[in-house]
Order: sequence, then C-alpha cells, then structure tokens
Amino acid sequence: MIIAKEISKVKENVREWKKQGLSIGLVPTMGYLHEGHASLIKKAREENDRVIVSDFVNPIQFGPKEDLATYPRDFDADCRLCESIGADLIFNPEPCEMYEDDFHSYVGVNTLSEGLCGKSRPIHFNGVCTVVTKLFNITEADRAYFGQKDAQQLAIVRRMVRDLNYNIQIVGCPIIREADGLAKSSRNTYLSENERQKATILHKALEQGEKMVRDGETDANKIVKTVRDIIESEPLAKVDYVEIVDWNELQKVDKIDGPILMAVAVYIGKVRLIDNFIVENSIVIEMV
Ligand code: PAF
Repeated sequence: MIIAKEISKVKENVREWKKQGLSIGLVPTMGYLHEGHASLIKKAREENDRVIVSDFVNPIQFGPKEDLATYPRDFDADCRLCESIGADLIFNPEPCEMYEDDFHSYVGVNTLSEGLCGKSRPIHFNGVCTVVTKLFNITEADRAYFGQKDAQQLAIVRRMVRDLNYNIQIVGCPIIREADGLAKSSRNTYLSENERQKATILHKALEQGEKMVRDGETDANKIVKTVRDIIESEPLAKVDYVEIVDWNELQKVDKIDGPILMAVAVYIGKVRLIDNFIVENSIVIEMV
C-alpha cells in the first residue's frame, strides 16, 4: 500500500492508473478508523480497481470551540486496517499541504447546511464540502463512499455533486453499530464507561420512533416527542436536536408522506453523538 503525504504523489499514481483505464474509489476519512470505515473501504474495494483512503483531520470543518486538538489519531493502526482490506493508497497530508497560507476558496451548499447539525456547527459543512471537493479533484475518483451515520453530510455532498456537475458517483453506506446498538464513531472513545453504557439511549429511542413509523404513524411531531421523551429519561443525556425532516431538502415536516430522515444529536456528558434512520417509500432503510 502506498502512503502519500503529498498531493503530487497521489496525482502521480492517479495519472498512472487512469492511463491504464482503471477505476478509482475514494473513502474520505478523518482517521482513527473503526468498523464503520472498514465497511466503506470494503465496499470501495469490491466496486473499484484502485482504492484510495484519505486520512486527514480537516481543520476547517471544526468550530473554534470544537475538538480539533483532541480529535483521536492513530495513523499506524489506520495503515494496518487499510492494508488488511486491500486499499491501494492512503493519503495523509499535513494541514499546510491542503491549505496554503493564502487559501481563500470555499464550497458550500445553502439551506441543506443550515438545519440539524448546521445550527450548532455553522461552518462545519462548508469545511466538509471544501475538503471533499479538493479530495475529489486530487484523486479523480469515479466513486466516493460516505456513511449514513452522517446523513446530513451525505445529503449535502450528493446535492453539491448534482448541483455543480462533479464527475463522481456518491455511494451511501449503512450505519455500522456496536452489539448494543450504539452507532460506531471515532468520538465514542471520549465516553467514560458509564457514559458509554448510557449512550445506548439514542438507539433505543430511535428504535421506538422507527416502530411507530412501521406501525403506520404519520404524525411527525408525535414521533419526535416520543423519541425526545425517551432520550430525556436518561439524566446524562442532553438533547441538541430531535427532528424529522424530508430526506431531499432536509426541511422539518409535520406529516410523513414521503422520504424522511429522523435525526438526533445528543450530548452524553460532554460528548456529542448523532444517529438517525431514513424512511423511503414507507420502508425504514436503516436499522432493519
Ligand atoms: O465524515 C468525515 O469523516 C469527514 O467529515 C470527511 C467527509 C472525511 C471530511 O473531512
């Protein structure tokens, strides 16, 4: 597996692969890889001739009070995981390689970035869109793989690709969970043992919401209230948001009559966790 720190080294390999007519799959990550990332890399491995994993904690998607400095990192372990799945190249640039001192160009998707996580993380999605754009351009990937756990990110990246005619296919992949239902996340490592146990409340609450949808409930506010009440029954949990939005525009809905995303963001102690499910054509496509 090639380890590339420089953009030029990635481009050199990409040029060679393109010359040979090979397809390229990209898995953008911020490292500290877990089974959720592994599932994306495996899917990319199945569907492409060459697989690039980017491993870069992107500073411009963190707000000034967020966890950029403490975000967990273990590059050696990341390399071992990528190699074991058969990735061809891992791209691990320094921030100065990605953002020169006079960097001034940003990409953003209005409206879709304003609700849900965008409310408490106002610069986050512009940072994501900008770095993802750079990664698409550097790797010239045919497909890029994103997890459904970051459902708003997935919707925004898809919209950006459609609106701006990027030449890439975005592949959404299911949430990977721990045995007790907690969605896998690099940030789970911040939880104390007690918090880790209590964090299962997100999944339990969403399961109840999902059951209501399956049973035919279409009153979104009723489902939101039930899910919120369950989460708030846990004293360590503080709700950032519990919302049902339409899965295309990410705008709040009162009635479920099309594809929807039910998404939650909850602080367990100081750790902010997110989780969700999506319903399309009356079928819950997550957690089934
Ligand atoms: O989902 C993530 O890990 C990041 O937001 C991404 C897509 C790698 C961009 O930095």
